[in-house]
Amino acid sequence: WILMATARSPTNIAVVKYWGKRDEALILPINDSISVTLDPSHLCTTTTVAVSPNFDRDRMWLNGKEISLSGGRYQRCLREIRSRAGDVEDEKRGICIGKEDWGKLHVHIASYNNFPTAAGLASSAAGFACLVYSLAKLMNVREEQGKLSAIARQGSGSACRSLFGGFVKWEMGKVLKCTKDSAGSDSIAVQLADEQHWNDLVIIIAVVSSRQKETSSTTGMRESVETSPLLHYRSTEVVPKRILQMEEAIRTRDFPSFARLTCADSNQFHAVCLDTSPPIFYMNNTSHRQVPHSFIVTNWFFRIISFMEKWNRFEGTPQVAYTFDAGPNAVLIAPNRKVASLLLQRLLFYFPPSTDTELKSFVLGDQSI
Ligand code: DP6
Repeated sequence: WILMATARSPTNIAVVKYWGKRDEALILPINDSISVTLDPSHLCTTTTVAVSPNFDRDRMWLNGKEISLSGGRYQRCLREIRSRAGDVEDEKRGICIGKEDWGKLHVHIASYNNFPTAAGLASSAAGFACLVYSLAKLMNVREEQGKLSAIARQGSGSACRSLFGGFVKWEMGKVLKCTKDSAGSDSIAVQLADEQHWNDLVIIIAVVSSRQKETSSTTGMRESVETSPLLHYRSTEVVPKRILQMEEAIRTRDFPSFARLTCADSNQFHAVCLDTSPPIFYMNNTSHRQVPHSFIVTNWFFRIISFMEKWNRFEGTPQVAYTFDAGPNAVLIAPNRKVASLLLQRLLFYFPPSTDTELKSFVLGDQSI
């Protein structure tokens, strides 16, 4: 016999970013963070997990290619879920698995991303959220979502936020290192507002490159923690206040404040990357094919930031927001569909589609533009 469960999990975009760990093994962050979860139909991971007495070891395939499960992050998630597994009974098929049996049974995991892996589109966030959720379903784990988020966090920090829709805060938990028993159990995600709360907000992701990023987030943040004085200032002096302001902006649907805070946080995150030794450049040059047979290397990031900033300055109050994660793709946010259409028109005019530039629009809620 074989027993299966499938789950789909969206990615999330941080508007107050997580950058830096105080405990690498447990993935405990040095500051709280806030994100928006995208609509699952756009950027998501779909994972099917299966268990059978015929499986002789745990195995996993990502986008059809077998990958190793030996990494500590996978092992930790599997172990945490197995230790909370419940009894499973399928009378029709005569299957009966007691909770003590899960330690002896092996799982096969098949996971697909419908977006570029490791190009700064938070694929690990959707991936680990989906892995933990599908395993929890298969093994009948009856924990509330917050507890599951603490398990997904041990796969990839940002994954804990993808277990909820809408606006989500990852609470860093106690600043002091946790004792062995508590194991970071208070470092969990909580939903600030569901996907209906501010559903006229439109998120546009400008995918300019699907190449793998050069410095992984894990390595990058380790180097920043070790070498950047700005990161220390950010996590202790800036983020605690910014989190409160962002929560208020979300609660009151105050777009100008939301936009100001989002752009400022993205810029400070990249400033921290530059303040790291050796410096990390996530905002690379991007080449655009503009006339046949010739590539013009343009600095897409500075052009798009200055384009958005000029627009906001011209209008007097912020109309649009931008944020960049650890990769070259831009995430642009508009307060409603009217502004989003205008933004798309302007983007297509200033950044005409080329072989290397692809603009996709993604929408929060079930609207489309
Ligand atoms: C810039 O969650 O990918 O996207 O915990 O080491 O797996 P690990 O890192 P990861 O880092 C995400 C960093 C970020 C900001 C954010 O999503 O908050």
